[in-house]
Order: sequence, then C-alpha cells, then structure tokens
Amino acid sequence: MNDAINTSKIIRGCWQLATGHSQGDRSVQPILDAIEAGFTTFDCADIYLGVEALLGKAAKVVAEKKLRIHTKFVPDLSCLQKVDRKSVENSIDRSLKRLQVERIDLVQLHWWDFGVKNYLSAMEILLELKARGKIAELGLTNVNRAYLKEFLEHSEVASLQAQISLFDSRVARGLSELCRTSGVKIYAYGSLLGGFVSEKWLDQKEPQLEQLANRSLVKYKLLIDSACGWAVFQHRLSFLSKLASKYHCEIANIAIAALLQAGRADAVIVGLSPQNFATHNRSLAKLPLLEMRDLQEINAWTCNLPGDAYDAERDLTGVHAKVMKYNLNAE
Ligand SMILES: NC(=O)c1ccc[n+]([C@@H]2O[C@H](COP(=O)([O-])OP(=O)(O)OC[C@H]3O[C@@H](n4cnc5c(N)ncnc54)[C@H](OP(=O)(O)O)[C@@H]3O)[C@@H](O)[C@H]2O)c1
Repeated sequence: MNDAINTSKIIRGCWQLATGHSQGDRSVQPILDAIEAGFTTFDCADIYLGVEALLGKAAKVVAEKKLRIHTKFVPDLSCLQKVDRKSVENSIDRSLKRLQVERIDLVQLHWWDFGVKNYLSAMEILLELKARGKIAELGLTNVNRAYLKEFLEHSEVASLQAQISLFDSRVARGLSELCRTSGVKIYAYGSLLGGFVSEKWLDQKEPQLEQLANRSLVKYKLLIDSACGWAVFQHRLSFLSKLASKYHCEIANIAIAALLQAGRADAVIVGLSPQNFATHNRSLAKLPLLEMRDLQEINAWTCNLPGDAYDAERDLTGVHAKVMKYNLNAE
C-alpha cells in the first residue's frame, strides 16, 4: 500500500467516548491506544460529557508527547440570549480546567440559533480570551456560507468543522470555496456516517430507526434517506468495498482517502470507537493513494439533500433537527 496520504490528516473524534453516547466503559484507553498508533490530534466539545476530562487525563499520561486538542464552545440553546462576557469566560475556564492546560489549542464556536443575534459578540469575547492567552486559535462549526462570510467580516476564523462525506457534499455549494479563498481550514466530520460507511453495513437490508444502536446512527440514517436512499447507498458501498479489496485496506480508509485526496477537507475527524478502537486505530493508520479514475468515479456522486451545510439540521420543522439535543450543558 502506498501511504502517501499522511495520517496527521486524521483527527480522532471523541464524541463517541461521551457519557450517554453508547454503552460501555468510559476510560482513557481508547485515547492512549490512538496515541500509541500515531494519532496526535483529538476533537471534543464542552458538551461531550466527560470527554474534556478524559483527554486532559490522557495528555498527562503521555506528557512527553505533544498532543493537539480541539474543543468547542457550545452554549445551550436555552441560554443563547444570556451569553455574555462572564458566561463565555466561565465556560472556557471550565474547559481549561478539564483539559488541564493553560491554553486551549483550538476553540470552535457552535451557535444553535442565528435568530438569537449575539453570536458575533460571543466571538468577540472569545477573541479577547485569545488575546489574553487562554486560546491559541478560534474556529467555527456548523455554519453555512452566509454565516461564515458574516463572521469573517468581524473576526478571524482559523478553521471550520463541517459535515462532509462522499454522501453529503453540501459544503461544495460555495462554502468550501469561501474557506479556500479566506484561508479557513476545513475539518470534516460525519465522513463514515457514524459507522455506516464500513464492511458492517455492506449488503445489509435497510434498518428501521429504532433498531439503530445510538443517536449518531439515527442521524446518519436520516441523512442517507435524504441524500441518496438506501439502495444507492448500498450500490456506492459496494463500489467502495471493491476499491478496499484493490488497495488492500478497509472501506473506511477509501472513504477518508477520497475526501483528502480530492481536497474536500484539510483533515478528517474520525470517531474513536469505545468498543473497536484497537483494530480501527491500526487500520486507519495507513491511507491508500487512489488512482485518478477511481477518484473521478467517486467524485461524480451527487447529494440530493437540498441547501447549504447544516441548513437541514437547523430547520426545526424538519426531520434532521429532531434528533439533536440542544441543551447538553444542562444535563
Ligand atoms: N461539529 C459537530 O456538530 C459534530 C457532530 C458530530 C461529530 N463531530 C465530531 O466528529 C467525530 C466523529 O463523529 P462522526 O459522527 O463523524 O462519526 P464517524 O467518524 O462518521 O464514525 C465513527 C465510527 O465509525 C465506526 N467505524 C467503522 N469502521 C471504522 C474504521 N475502519 N475505522 C474507524 N471507525 C470505523 C466506528 O464505530 P464502531 O466501530 O463502534 O461501529 C466509529 O466510532 C466526533 O467524535 C466529534 O469529534 C462533530
């Protein structure tokens, strides 16, 4: 296998380690194992229950290694109106304490409802905290092109975390281009559709939502329904499986390599499974370099979900918003 794509372009996502995401122990072991396999960047959020503290603990265990930890500032929907200097600083201080650091490498702002207008002042307060040394870089997550443009007019934005996969290419409708021209790095999540893009789901009949093991899978099944439908999904999975045999790797590696090679993301955030971390950490550590004709075939896949990035998820009347939890800080 030609591992020309550097795995520093894979960020291990730790939502899957949050209390309440799925069954199983919450230990630092998946994180320590990922570090041993060569991964150095991790993604989390203040609302991923218990995860900032786990990452802080893991970083202390491997103190000789330089890790990079990205977190998010996600004020609850019910509190947006009350977001002010004190509440922002309290949240960032809480993240600093949990992560056991004096400065956070990257804070990504998520704002549930742009109808509540103090998002720019929230960003301004974060910028002040950056100037005071509590934050190294500021980014955003889940904004469309119009909101990114607005943020860029008032603030610096180092990166944007967005849902991007071979099945969800909404960012290609102008958002990616704005990132490129503004020097905003793109970090993709949802690239394995929470695990659907794997051998496990190949040739499987369509599941009912209530059969799915966690909320992520429900979210991504709804995405599959809107983006292409189960039959087309299976057809594409089968093509990815053929490529996996050709390149001697797993379906996940093909799906990630295709995004990186086509320049659709600067890095891909791949969820760290609390159950299967040992095998995934090792299989992910090598990505194939795809031939141009294989890449071209994948790049031609279309996405029927209308709108820009995260528009469907923000539409409170629609099916995609119903699976979200908006007030996790309060839990
Ligand atoms: N900004 C946001 O709003 C947002 C939203 C969601 C996620 N995220 C971030 O993105 C991260 C990833 O979450 P996601 O929803 O995008 O999940 P994902 O990366 O699409 O899926 C991850 C899951 O895929 C499964 N999998 C199957 N085969 C695999 C393989 N060969 N290698 C690795 N994993 C394989 C694993 O679960 P099993 O093996 O257990 O089946 C793993 O937990 C999160 O942890 C979080 O940091 C951000």
